[in-house]
Amino acid sequence: MAIRHFLTLMDLSAEELKHIIERAIELKNLRRQGIATDLFRGKVLGMIFEKSSTRTRVSFEAGMAQMGGSALFLSPRDTQLGRGEPVEDSARVISRMVDMVMIRTFDHQTLERFATYSRVPVINALSDSYHPCQLLADIQTYMEYRGNPEGKVVAWVGDGNNMCHSYINAARLCGFELRIACPQGYEPDDNLVAAGREQVKVVHNPVDAVRGADWVATDVWASMGQEREQQVRTRAFEHFLVDHQLMRHANSNALFMHCLPAHRGEEVSADLLEDENISVVWDEAENRLHAQKALMEFLQEHSA
Ligand code: CP
Ligand code: NVA
Repeated sequence: MAIRHFLTLMDLSAEELKHIIERAIELKNLRRQGIATDLFRGKVLGMIFEKSSTRTRVSFEAGMAQMGGSALFLSPRDTQLGRGEPVEDSARVISRMVDMVMIRTFDHQTLERFATYSRVPVINALSDSYHPCQLLADIQTYMEYRGNPEGKVVAWVGDGNNMCHSYINAARLCGFELRIACPQGYEPDDNLVAAGREQVKVVHNPVDAVRGADWVATDVWASMGQEREQQVRTRAFEHFLVDHQLMRHANSNALFMHCLPAHRGEEVSADLLEDENISVVWDEAENRLHAQKALMEFLQEHSA
């Protein structure tokens, strides 16, 4: 058996994705009943963070603890990675000492290089190109509220960024229609859009994307690493606010999602974010915990 990594959603088949989501829902129920699972007793997760995080760090660290294992927080500030030790060398050393590694980094190739040299599963905890762990939680959340997203219409409003790229992959695996509304010049990667052409459409007017949608999602206008572009982006995205007025074009039972952290009054109105009839962002955040536990269990079981 080879090592299974999770660098993008496309590392899973549609059936495997479905299995992980179903298991995440099961693990959530077990936790609600106070039933502990200790599948990871004695196991260690290495967590390399080159960017900030609240949800990802807490969910992985708490998840490992709840399954009887432990997690090591590794910042480039305090490791030799930050002083130029090659990723390939770090991967060979770290993966001889821990049972799984998650990495949050800038360049997606860093993850690929690490995975090539790793003896243990590597998980993408966000790169500039993808955020697949967030999509596990988003799909779980939709399933819990509305059932299978297959055949539904999902609208992405905002930047063609890492989250948008993972939504494209999710559309391909789950079989939903994805309409992406972004300003000119902020479109997602052409190759990804081409790969998903049966499901994915790019438009430049939010109403065109949201009309008749069952699920509407957005994200910050300037991602981590783009702080210097903030002003330019604020101008480019000024007509891309998701609020109640925009949501009126969606289906009456449409859900709103945001991976968080959110900027109220920029990409989402405060009223919409707090409207618990439409916005499921807190469940979405909680589901990071359950979905990643199911993911780690899957990778562990399917790796030699
Ligand atoms: N959504 C998400 O990944 O949040 P953090 O940056 O807080 O981990
Ligand atoms: N697109 C955002 C997601 C944060 C969870 C970023 O990369 O900063």
